[in-house]
Amino acid sequence: MRTTVGIIGAGPAGLLLARLLHNAGIDSVVLESRDRGYVEQRQRAGILEQGTVDVLRAAGAGARMDREGLRHDGIELRFARRRHRIDFPALTGGRSVMVYAQTEVCKDLIALQLKEGGPLLFEAEALAVEGADTDSPRVRFRHEGREDVLECAYVVGCDGFWGVARKAIPEELTQVFERTYPFGWLGILADVPPSHDELVYARHDRGFALLSMRSPVVSRLYLQVPEGTDAGSWSDEEIWDELERRFETDDDWRLARGPITAKSVTPMRSHVHEPMRHGRLFLAGDAAHIVPPTGAKGLNLAVGDVVTFARALAHREGTGSDALLDTYSQTCLRRVWQAERFSYEMTTLLHRSPGATPFEDRIQLARLERLASARAAEQDLAEGYTGFPLE
Ligand code: FAD
Ligand code: DHB
Repeated sequence: MRTTVGIIGAGPAGLLLARLLHNAGIDSVVLESRDRGYVEQRQRAGILEQGTVDVLRAAGAGARMDREGLRHDGIELRFARRRHRIDFPALTGGRSVMVYAQTEVCKDLIALQLKEGGPLLFEAEALAVEGADTDSPRVRFRHEGREDVLECAYVVGCDGFWGVARKAIPEELTQVFERTYPFGWLGILADVPPSHDELVYARHDRGFALLSMRSPVVSRLYLQVPEGTDAGSWSDEEIWDELERRFETDDDWRLARGPITAKSVTPMRSHVHEPMRHGRLFLAGDAAHIVPPTGAKGLNLAVGDVVTFARALAHREGTGSDALLDTYSQTCLRRVWQAERFSYEMTTLLHRSPGATPFEDRIQLARLERLASARAAEQDLAEGYTGFPLE
C-alpha cells in the first residue's frame, strides 16, 4: 500500500488531518488500532475553543456542531462558598467557546472521511515507523490478521500518548519534560439536565469539582480523587454527596441528581516531547504532548498541530519549499508551551494537593480572590481559556 501521508491514529488529530489534506488535494491513509464503535464512544473532551470551531467549519465539518453545540460565553469559579463569573466576550473582544463533545467531533469526521476521503482502516494497528530519516518512510501495521507495509512520503503520528510513532525518534535527539500530579479525575455522565447553564470550576478544601455537560439533558461531572483511585470504589450516592459538598454555596443553588450512566478515572500529567519532528516523521496531538484536563486544552492543541502540518505540506506542494515543514516543531511548541503553562496554572489554582500546607491554601485563595477582583487577572484567564491564536 502506498500514499502521500500515512496517518497513525483516528482520534481528533488524525481524523481532522485526513480531512484537511483531502480538502487540499493531498491523499492519505489513516490506520486506527481500535474499532469504529470504540473511537466514537470514548468519553473525553467537551470544550472547543473558538479557533477549533472556526477550523472545523472551514473544513466542512461544522454543520452538526453548529446545530447541536452549545455556545458558552463564560464559566463560573466557585470557592469559599462564593461564585464568580468570568465573562469571555467582554474580556477578549468577543471570543467564546463551544460545548460539543469529542465523541461527536470524531463521529462527524469519520462519516465525512468514509464518504469523501481516502482509506480509513479500523482495527489496523501500527507496529513501527521505519526509515523516518529517509525520503520514503514506512509504517508496518497489522490488519485483518496480516502484516502489511504502508509506503509514504510523510508519516504523521497522531496515535496519542501510548502510540508507537514517538518511539521512532532516537532517544539521543529527544528531550522529555514531564510532571505528574498526585490526583486524578473521577468523571461521570448522568441523565439529568445540568444544574447550571455554564461550566462551574470549584475549589474546595476537600478537592476540586467540575460541572460540565453534553447536552441540555445530560450532565458531565468530575471530582478530584487520589491518584490510582478505582472508579468502582465510589458508589453513585457517594459521588453525588461529594459533588454536593464541593459545589456548596451560601445562596440557594442546588445540584440536581440523576442516573449515572458512565464512570471512569483519568490520571493527570503534563508531558512534552521535543522535537515534534524527525526527518519525515511528524508528531501531532497527544502523541507529542499531554496537559492536565483542567484547562480543556488537549483536543484544541491537537487541532493546532494538524492545521500547522497541513498548511506546511500544502505550502511545499504549492511552492516546492520545505520552509514551513522545517519550522513545524518550533511553531507548534510555542503554542504547546503556552497551553502547558495555562493548564498547569488552572490545575494548581483549583486542586488541593494531599500535602498542601495552610500557607499554600491561603495563597490559592488569594489567587482566586485576585481573579474575582482584578480585571487584568480575569482577562488573562479568559484569553487562555478561549484559546491561544494559531501562528
Ligand atoms: P487520541 O484521541 O488519544 O487518539 C489517538 C488514536 O490513536 C486513538 O484512536 C488510538 O486508538 C490510536 N492509536 C494508538 N496507538 C495506535 C497504533 N499503534 N496504531 C494505530 N492507532 C493507534 N481536551 C480538550 O481540548 N478539552 C477538554 O475539555 C478535554 N477534556 C478532557 C477530559 C478527559 C477526562 C480526558 C481524558 C481528556 C480531555 N481532553 C480535553 C484531552 C483530549 O481528549 C485529548 O487531548 C485528545 O483526545 C487528543 O487527540 P489525539 O487525536 O491527539 O489523541
Ligand atoms: C470538560 C472537560 C474538561 O477538561 C474541562 O476543563 C471542561 C469540560 C468536559 O468533558 O466537558
